[in-house]
Amino acid sequence: MKLFMDTANVSQVAEIAAWGVLDGVTTNPSLVAKEGKDFKETVLEMCAHVPSVSAQVTATDVEGMRKQGEEYAGWHEHVVVKVPMTTEGLKALHHFRSQGIRTNTTLVFSLNQAILAAKAGANIISPFIGRLDDIGEDGMGLIAEIMEAWSHYRFDTEVLVASIRHPRHVAQAARIGAHICTIPYDVFVKLPHHTLTDAGLKKFLSDWEKVKK
Ligand code: E4P
Repeated sequence: MKLFMDTANVSQVAEIAAWGVLDGVTTNPSLVAKEGKDFKETVLEMCAHVPSVSAQVTATDVEGMRKQGEEYAGWHEHVVVKVPMTTEGLKALHHFRSQGIRTNTTLVFSLNQAILAAKAGANIISPFIGRLDDIGEDGMGLIAEIMEAWSHYRFDTEVLVASIRHPRHVAQAARIGAHICTIPYDVFVKLPHHTLTDAGLKKFLSDWEKVKK
C-alpha cells in the first residue's frame, strides 16, 4: 500500500519523507487555506520530496477545470490534478486522460461514483471514509465494496482511502487491499509507536547501562 500525507505543510512532508516511507501528498483548498502560503510554491516544494502531489482545481465547469488542470500539470511532472466528483468533473477526467495528465477524483462517497470516475479515466479515486463515519455511515465498508467490485474488472484506477481519522483506519485499509492511504500528520506520527516498543527500548537501554559499569 502506498502511503501519502494529507497536508499542505511542506515541513511536515519533509519530516515524514525523511523516514523513507512517503509515496505522495494530497492537498485540498481547505488545507492550502489553513497554511496561508502561495499554492504554486507549496506544490513545487512538495514535488521535490515525493513523486505524486495532488493539486485540486477550484473551477466547477469543465472549461475552467481543463484550464486550471493543464496549468497545474505544466508546473511539474509530479503533479496529479484533483477533480471533484461531479458531471463536469467526469468530462474533465475524460479530457485529462486523453492528454496523459494524471488525475485524482475527490469527494467520492459511493460505489457508483467510484465506477463512473474510473470509467471516465481517473488514475486515482478518493473515497472519504471519515466524513461517512461522521454522518453515521460505514466509511471502511465503502472501501471494501469498491475493492470487491474492482476485483471483478480491470480498472487501472487506484483506490485512495481519504479522510483518515486514526491509525486503525490505516491498518484496516491495508487489510482490505486499498492501493493508497492519505494520512494527516497527527495520525502519521503515531504510526511508528507502540507502548511495548517504547517500554522495551527503555529496558534494553537501562540494562545496557549496568553492563557498561
Ligand atoms: C484528501 O484528499 C482529502 O481532501 C482529505 O482526506 C479530506 O479529509 P477530511 O475529511 O479530514 O477533511
